[in-house]
Amino acid sequence: MTVNIDWDNLSFSLTPTAYMYVENTYEGCWVNEGAFRPFGEIAISPAAAVLNYGQGLFEGLKAYKNHDGKVALFRHRENIKRMNEGAMRLSMPTYDEDKFMEVIEELVRKNHEYIPPFGKGELYIRPTLWGTTPLLGVAPAKDYGFMVFASPVGPYFKTGFKPIKLRITKSYHRAAPKGTGNIKYIGNYASGMLPAKKAKAEGLNEVIYLDAVHDKYIEEVGAANFFMVKGNTLYTPERGSILKGITRDSVMTIAKDILKMEVIEKKVSYEEVLDADECFASGTAAVIASIGHIQYGDRVKIYNNMNVGPVAQKLYTILREFQHMQREDIYGWSKEIII
Ligand code: PLP
Ligand code: COI
Repeated sequence: MTVNIDWDNLSFSLTPTAYMYVENTYEGCWVNEGAFRPFGEIAISPAAAVLNYGQGLFEGLKAYKNHDGKVALFRHRENIKRMNEGAMRLSMPTYDEDKFMEVIEELVRKNHEYIPPFGKGELYIRPTLWGTTPLLGVAPAKDYGFMVFASPVGPYFKTGFKPIKLRITKSYHRAAPKGTGNIKYIGNYASGMLPAKKAKAEGLNEVIYLDAVHDKYIEEVGAANFFMVKGNTLYTPERGSILKGITRDSVMTIAKDILKMEVIEKKVSYEEVLDADECFASGTAAVIASIGHIQYGDRVKIYNNMNVGPVAQKLYTILREFQHMQREDIYGWSKEIII
């Protein structure tokens, strides 16, 4: 089979691949009855816990093809660790770490023809875990579905690698302390659609959320983590109600070890951001997105004359080298998948 995909015009949108993986619990336990099957619809009760009460999680990771045609996954054990932390928070059963790794690796092999050529994009992989039991009372489901599908994707932001424009929203919060902002809970995402839609209608790419207590400290850029550069120091909002990004962790490691920057996790106020040398966002989908413009009320700050910031550029280059196995894997981040 050869796939018919316009590799030159990929965007971050769904192009289903041949195979997905489906597994369900039986009486709340995983019984190894998962299977790969052609991508397609699933049957689910209208009373399912995930549909009515949002008992669900998702993950996001990518398979990368390098210039030699070799394929790698990047830090995929971190995805299952994070999914399991979320599962515990949402009263769902955890999934076996090693089995997850095998399923993801086999999914990549089965869908290898959908992995974009080097430089054109990546294969985005979307694991999900959700409560399937029909119920009416607000309570954890008895049974759960674990599914993984994939899609070739291009750049997350329409600007490609050009700097993005953002507004710090005064009207909406994304997450509250002690809530679910720190897990990839499906319910965290619908509430961001209206703020993002309004920002896009004004020619911006996304919004930056502030913390829900002081309305002052930066949390995240939509579905990506936030970084600010001042001199040789890289700052990023401390953990709490933000998502523990795997790219965020990789960026901090690279900045500290390779760029020899000081890296500080702390509360970052919007005043500091409007006075920073450079800002960028990080995520699996977003990779590293340089920020060219941030507005807060009537104040507008333009960074690096709307050009990609020098730190974002270096981090992007080095991160991509790790992801594409073009740099010695000193951290053991990549796993080559033999097709
Ligand atoms: N923040 C949110 C809310 C996200 O959904 C994501 C995407 O996964 C990120 C940050 C970035 O995390 P990662 O780097 O693990 O993709
Ligand atoms: C990712 O970066 O993997 C995400 O999950 C972002 C997404 C909501 C598209």
